[in-house]
Formats: sequence, structure tokens, C-alpha cells
Amino acid sequence: MKKIIAITVFVAAIAIVAGGVMAAPPGDDVTFDAGTMGHVTFSGMDHFNAGLRCGDCHTKIFPMKAPGTPGAAKFTMDDIFAGKYCGECHNGKRAFAPFDDCSKCHDKG
Ligand code: HEC
Ligand code: HEC
Ligand code: HEC
Repeated sequence: MKKIIAITVFVAAIAIVAGGVMAAPPGDDVTFDAGTMGHVTFSGMDHFNAGLRCGDCHTKIFPMKAPGTPGAAKFTMDDIFAGKYCGECHNGKRAFAPFDDCSKCHDKG
């Protein structure tokens, strides 16, 4: 009996750990260099809080690489305006449009 309880507790503990990993918000912010338009900081946490999960972006839109490193998504502002990459959602329907307020994403500093 004790053994069964111990196994049950052990299995439950694994389930909690595995569930925690799946539901864990993404860690650090990701920063894009935007030339004359400064930087764009993508916050995984803000998107997590907006209800999005890893599979909404990874890996069909973004490959899960730091910008500029091998294998990372290569795109420009025109791609976003055309509804690709960030623009798959930032199209004025699912999330705010890219045309109105550039400073919602861009930080000139
Ligand atoms: C709304 C879109 C979105 C969601 C949701 C999202 N990510 Fe990302 N993630 C990105 C973008 C954009 C990048 C950087 C561009 C690229 O991958 O080429 C990135 C990059 C990463 C990187 C590489 C960062 C680095 O500095 O090496 C990891 C790791 C990552 N994401 C993990 C996750 C995990 C885990 C989740 C879910 C908990 C998640 N992401 C959810 C958009 C998203
Ligand atoms: C939804 C977020 C978002 C909004 C809003 C946005 N941008 Fe961007 N922009 C980006 C990202 C991300 C990059 C970096 C792309 C890369 O380097 O991979 C970028 C890059 C750029 C660049 C660098 C060169 C290029 O063509 O990629 C310019 C210039 C630019 N944006 C102009 C603008 C202007 C002007 C506006 C407002 C009318 C604007 N952006 C609004 C996300 C945004
Ligand atoms: C899978 C859909 C999706 C993708 C892809 C996506 N976003 Fe978002 N983003 C959202 C949603 C939904 C919100 C919250 C609603 C809103 O603010 O309109 C949001 C909010 C934001 C905010 C406001 C965060 C806050 O709470 O202040 C910024 C900034 C932003 N996104 C930038 C980006 C950039 C930059 C990219 C591309 C690198 C990107 N997003 C890609 C869906 C997405």
C-alpha cells in the first residue's frame, strides 16, 4: 500500500513538473535591431499574458532563435506590413496594426 502511494505521488510530481514546463512563459525579451528606427523589443511575457502559447508562433512563424543568429527568421518591416511574421497577428484584427503608432514596437533609444 505504501509503495502504491509512493508511486502515485511520484507520478503526480512528474505530471506537475511536465505541466509546468509546457505552461511556463517564455523567458528573456528578444531584441531586434531596426536601424534608423532604433530597436524593437519583443516580450514573450506580454504575449503570454495576452493568452498566446508557444505553438502560436513556434515554429510556423518564428523558428525560436535569437535575431541575427543562424536559422533565425529574416524579415523586414515590409514583410510585417504585408501581414507576415509579426504582421500575421499585428494586422489590426487579432492585434494592433503596424501602421498607426510605430512607437508601440519601436524604441528609438
Ligand atoms: C507571439 C509570438 C511568440 C510566442 C507566443 C512565443 N515566442 Fe518565442 N520567440 C518569438 C520571436 C519573435 C522570437 C525571435 C525570432 C526568431 O525566432 O527567429 C522568439 C525566440 C524564442 C527563443 C530564442 C531566444 C534566444 O534569445 O535565443 C526561445 C528559446 C523561445 N522563443 C521560446 C519560446 C517559448 C518556450 C514559448 C512559449 C512558452 C514562446 N517562445 C512563445 C515569438 C514568440
Ligand atoms: C508590431 C510591431 C511593429 C510596429 C508597430 C512597427 N514595426 Fe517596424 N519593425 C518591427 C520589427 C520586429 C523590426 C525588425 C525586423 C528585423 O530586423 O528582422 C522592424 C524594423 C523596422 C525598420 C528597419 C528596416 C526594415 O525595413 O526592416 C524600419 C525602418 C521600420 N521597422 C519602420 C517602421 C515604421 C515607420 C513603423 C510605423 C509606421 C513601424 N516600423 C511599426 C516591428 C514593428
Ligand atoms: C500569434 C500572434 C502574434 C504575433 C506573431 C505577434 N504578436 Fe504581438 N501581440 C499579439 C497580441 C494578441 C497582443 C495583445 C493585443 C494587442 O495589444 O493588440 C500583442 C501585443 C503586442 C505588444 C504590446 C505588448 C504590451 O502589452 O504592451 C507589442 C509591443 C507586440 N505585440 C509586438 C510584437 C512584435 C514586435 C512581434 C514580432 C516580432 C509580435 N508582436 C508578434 C499577438 C501577436
